[in-house]
Parts: sequence; C-alpha cells; structure tokens
Amino acid sequence: MKPSQAAAQDRELSEKELRNLYSLADVNRLAPGDALIRGGGQDAKVHLFLEGELKIVQKVGEADKEITRLRREKGGDAVVFFPGDPCRMSVSATLPSTALAFSSTVFESFDPAIQLYFYKQRFRFEERVVSGLLEAESDWLRRKKQFQAYLPAMLAAFKKDYEKSDLILGVLKKIPKLPAFTGTLAAGLMNDEISTKDVSDMVKQDPSLAAGVLKTVNSPYYGFSKHISDINHAVILLGFNELYQLVLAEGIRQTMPNLSRFREILSHSICISRIAFALSFSGHMGKPAEVSTIGLLHDLGESVKHLLKKQNPKIEILIDSIDGGAVGALLLKHWNLPGRIWQSIEFQNHPSVGPVSGIPKPFQDNVILLYLSHVCFEAMKGRTESDLFTPFLDDYIRVLGAGELSVRQMVQKLAMPFLVKNLHTYPAFFRKLIAKNTKSYEVLGTDRPPQDSR
Ligand SMILES: [Fe+2]
Repeated sequence: MKPSQAAAQDRELSEKELRNLYSLADVNRLAPGDALIRGGGQDAKVHLFLEGELKIVQKVGEADKEITRLRREKGGDAVVFFPGDPCRMSVSATLPSTALAFSSTVFESFDPAIQLYFYKQRFRFEERVVSGLLEAESDWLRRKKQFQAYLPAMLAAFKKDYEKSDLILGVLKKIPKLPAFTGTLAAGLMNDEISTKDVSDMVKQDPSLAAGVLKTVNSPYYGFSKHISDINHAVILLGFNELYQLVLAEGIRQTMPNLSRFREILSHSICISRIAFALSFSGHMGKPAEVSTIGLLHDLGESVKHLLKKQNPKIEILIDSIDGGAVGALLLKHWNLPGRIWQSIEFQNHPSVGPVSGIPKPFQDNVILLYLSHVCFEAMKGRTESDLFTPFLDDYIRVLGAGELSVRQMVQKLAMPFLVKNLHTYPAFFRKLIAKNTKSYEVLGTDRPPQDSR
C-alpha cells in the first residue's frame, strides 16, 4: 500500500487511501442491532468505523450500561477500536453502519503514516469520551448541589407552624403530661454525684413510681428469670440510666392509649434509645444519657399523628404529610422539656435530605446520633445500605469519627460491644435482636448485675 504523507495530517483519508483500506479489510455493513464488537475480550481485530451510528455498552455488575453513542457522517472523525479495548465493552449498530475490520498482522503492515492516522483518530475519540464524562460529571455535581439546597428547603416548606393549628393543639392538649416522677429522676440523672442509694431513695419516696418500677422489671417485657422484689435490687440490676429509661418509657406509655400502634412506636423508641446511648458512649460524642432520652421521645410526634388520624379518619392523607418530628417537638415544648431535647427532635428528619452542615451546631451531635441509631437498628434487623434512603450517610458516619466504616462495621465495632455488655438490662425483645447480631456472647436469660451501672 502506498501511503500518503497527508494521511498523518489532520484531515480525512484520501479516496485512494480509503480504497486501499477497503481492499485489505473485512467490510462490515451493519443493520441496527448488529454487533460490531461483542463483550468478553474475544475480538482481535482493529476496527475503523466509517459511517452510521454505534452505541457502546459496558457491563456494570450484572447490568448493561450504555456509555455513549457515536454518530459518524461525512466529514466527521472516524473512530478506531483496538483489540486491547476493555473486554467488558460491546459495540453495536443503532443505525445502518459501515466499519472496516483488519487483522493485527494487516494493521502492522500499514505504512507508519496510515498507522499514525489510526492512532490519532483513536486519541481524538478518547478525548471526546473524556470531555463528555467531565461534562456529565460537572452537570451531575451542579444537579447534586441544587438538590442539596432544594431538599431541606422542601422539608422546611412542609413544616408548617403547627402551633397555629387548632386541630393539632386540640390533640396536644388532650395528651396527659409525663408523670412528675420522670422529671424528678431526670434532675437526678444530670447530677454526676448521684449514687445508687440516692436513686433508690428517690424512687422509694414515690410509692406509685416504686410500684411501677417493680411491676415493669418483673413483667414479661423484661423477661428476667428471677423475681425482683426490692427497689435497691432493681436499681443495681438495671443501672441508673436504664432505670431512668424504664421510668420514662413507663411515663410515655401512660400518656398514650394502650393500642398496638403506640406499643410498636414505644418498642422502636426503646431500641433506638439504647443504640443511641451505645453510639454516643463508644463514639465519644454527645451525652449518652441525653441522647438516649431523645431516642425514647423522638417518635412521640408519630403517636400524635396516629391519635389525629383516629380522631379524624376523613383527613388521614393530610395528616400523613405532617412532619412528625416538628409535632413531637411541639408536644415536648408544651411539656416544658429542655430546649436541647425538643429542638434536636425537631431536626430529626434533616439527615435524610441534607448534610450535617444544615443542622444548627447545638443539636448536631444529638441529631447525628439519633439518625445513625436508626441506620444501625435497620441494619440489625437485616436491612442493607442499598435498602435504605441514606444519600448523606457517609457525611454522618465521618462526623461520628467512624471514618470509612460501613454500616455493618459501625454496628459491630461501635454499637454491639456496648449493647452486649449491658444487654441484661434491656427488654427481652431487644435482647433477642442483639442475640441475632452476635454469636459470641451468651445473651439470653441472664440477670447478672450490670458492670456499667451508676
Ligand atoms: Fe424512629
């Protein structure tokens, strides 16, 4: 073949050069759907795509993903495929197309100027693909930024001023306040100097509280193997924090009707509360007692919504759109709970729609721990990261200091060691869930004294 030096320049092949190439090639005239290169790395030819339209498909996992489409009309750049192209890539026609195929031996016999033409076309093609990818990436980043700004704004738009709603205020007023003893114990909880004896004395001073504690620790709900008949034993067995959580849970139970939906919400909250305590303790973030209290109270808004639905069945759909976090926060504000508690609860839905930076600093630790506790809880129940809507999860795990940990690793390294150590203080159903997540501990039917009681 007599090459023209011009072939190495930036222009099309001459008629003569093209005729020569045709005479040495297998000419592929492809109908739409015909394959030019099948994925799998079997293709050993050099292909010169001259006319028509091709699509390039790459295997990503089990799925085929279209990477790009190449359209070639007269005057456009020819495209070259070499045998070394990624073996998972396949190329097929989407319009009637023409391509020339050369064996490696024939290609190596080409004049260097023609070979150079092939390499240049190939280089241009790669440049186009790379600049297309960069464009797509910057487009994606722009959209991501817009979504990041839009989603929290959308959530905020849903958050109406519920304090102005007669419907909601009417329900909130009808909900009994938390019993006074929860406040007494809460004050004790904030006091680091308090002893087990002080706590026992405090509980004993309120006969209804003492009776409630004994009734609860002896209920099948806890499932302890031995009957516990005095308050000192209960306090030692449970530890102060757990005792407080138990009393608070009892208080919450008294505020809501004894219906299965409310019991479900409370059981969920008890699990979240314990996981939140564990993450806070192991991750050295926030105050474990405070965040576990938030865990216990965080879904009161869902209970309020359920009450609203029961009382107003005709507007169930509207009630569904109410922000449970905001309504729960309003109830707790009406109950005069500390601002840090109800304001953290008000922000609980933010992590699903925005990064950590969107949460006011004073509540960040609590909101992060509450969110990650939910993620850990779902993982403990067997759900995987891909089952969950967690677009900003990495951001939250990083702040906890868990670095590059996966959710599973976060459960195993941060939550489980603490949960297992204290599990004899938990209700039976939660002990069972922990048991499912660990094989190396004897987790059921024990009521030995806690190692971490205060
Ligand atoms: Fe929840």
